[in-house]
Amino acid sequence: MKLIIVANPEAGAVRAAEIVIQQIKAKPASVLGLPTGGTPVGLYAQLAKAVKTKQVDLSHVKTFNLDEYYGLPKEDAQSYYTFMNVNLYAPCGLRPDQTHIPSGTAPDAEAEVCAYDAAISKAGGLDLQVLGIGGNGHIGFNEPGTDPKSRTHVVTLTQNTREANARFFTSIGEVPTHAMTMGIQTILDAKAILMLVFGSNKADILFDALKGPVSIENPASFLQNHPDVIVIADQAAGARL
Ligand code: PGA
Repeated sequence: MKLIIVANPEAGAVRAAEIVIQQIKAKPASVLGLPTGGTPVGLYAQLAKAVKTKQVDLSHVKTFNLDEYYGLPKEDAQSYYTFMNVNLYAPCGLRPDQTHIPSGTAPDAEAEVCAYDAAISKAGGLDLQVLGIGGNGHIGFNEPGTDPKSRTHVVTLTQNTREANARFFTSIGEVPTHAMTMGIQTILDAKAILMLVFGSNKADILFDALKGPVSIENPASFLQNHPDVIVIADQAAGARL
């Protein structure tokens, strides 16, 4: 595992974009796994800038998002599809056939999650998975206690996660109770993983994930078992490392 400590989230976004762009230059048809949340917003802005200034061509990449709320239509302002469309797909001119995200309104959720794993495999597997980390160590929506061998599945969100995400909704009652997420094994099957961690509120969980025992109590700790992981943390998040 390679740890890169940067001064602040802005510097982290620049460094992360360099790594993603390097991946795409080495393999223009890269398959990228992508997160939502506050953490990757700066990275997506950097990628949009790089597309506009023709430093990178994203026209051959495929993207697979980590997760989506279950029950929200893609047009909903809080869906992860909308988040991705606003922050990455539209600014980078990605075509609908390039982007994948589980459908939160699929009538048969089990069929949807199975088809998602199959689509990742058909695309050749994830070349680079970008991740954030939840305050409880979750990666995607894989909450503590998730089977490390899990593939894309439907999850019940913990109270902790719903509270953390309530900032994007009018009230916590509006935060969906369920989601679809790539499983821990789906994530670990990526050839390379880039995890971004910013802010002092992530310092303890990041320390536990990287230096503590590999345990289902901290899903991000399974990254210790992956051969190609880069972690970019700002000084606040990396304070204990
Ligand atoms: P955040 O979420 O980027 O909004 O902090 C990270 C996560 O929950 O994975």
